[in-house]
Amino acid sequence: MVTMIVDLNSRYGLNPAHSEVVEACNVIESCDTLDMGCSNGRNALYLGQLGFNVTAIDINPAAIDMLQGIAEQEGMSNIKTQVLDINSASLGNDYGFISCTVTLMFINPANIDTVISDMHKRTLPGGYNLIVCAMSTDDHPCPVPFPFTLKAGQLREAYAGWELIKYNEDVGTMHNGAKLQFATILARKPS
Ligand SMILES: C[S@@+](CC[C@H](N)C(=O)[O-])C[C@H]1O[C@@H](n2cnc3c(N)ncnc32)[C@H](O)[C@@H]1O
Repeated sequence: MVTMIVDLNSRYGLNPAHSEVVEACNVIESCDTLDMGCSNGRNALYLGQLGFNVTAIDINPAAIDMLQGIAEQEGMSNIKTQVLDINSASLGNDYGFISCTVTLMFINPANIDTVISDMHKRTLPGGYNLIVCAMSTDDHPCPVPFPFTLKAGQLREAYAGWELIKYNEDVGTMHNGAKLQFATILARKPS
């Protein structure tokens, strides 16, 4: 069966969903899902249209207001929003899929272990985590002053014991030519 998806993102001036979220949806069935650091909802709207029950959290109330407004306008009752500081490591509910794209680098470095450990705790057995986060390594020091960056191998080690569906530490090029390295992980918690 072919699912027709209206391009809600462009209707509301949003970028398309993150390519890793789109790819993850080839593997993950619709389920209760957390979008950590959702901004104004490019990924939450995509997931919501595919039938995922999305809880979208962000520290920015204006972004949450915009996403909430779009969800109401579109009658998408499967998207819930909440202003929440990820640093609190208090996700509160359990999910089949937790997605955190280009967001972890904004948290306090002192909290990284507890934030990831809370993500693990709040993932249902057999559920998935997707993380995309900037790195800073000897070969590619991060050119952007993010509060937090991953070291080589750090994210893989944090997911020891999980099934790695995807893992890479690829180097990309910014529009100004600077090199920026990202770690990407899609991992499945043991059942
Ligand atoms: C670069 S945007 C990424 C948005 C989205 N995940 C995506 O893929 O387009 C980073 C988001 O993280 C949010 N953020 C930053 N620090 C946060 C925190 N401590 N708690 C929750 N959200 C935070 C920002 O408000 C912003 O919306």
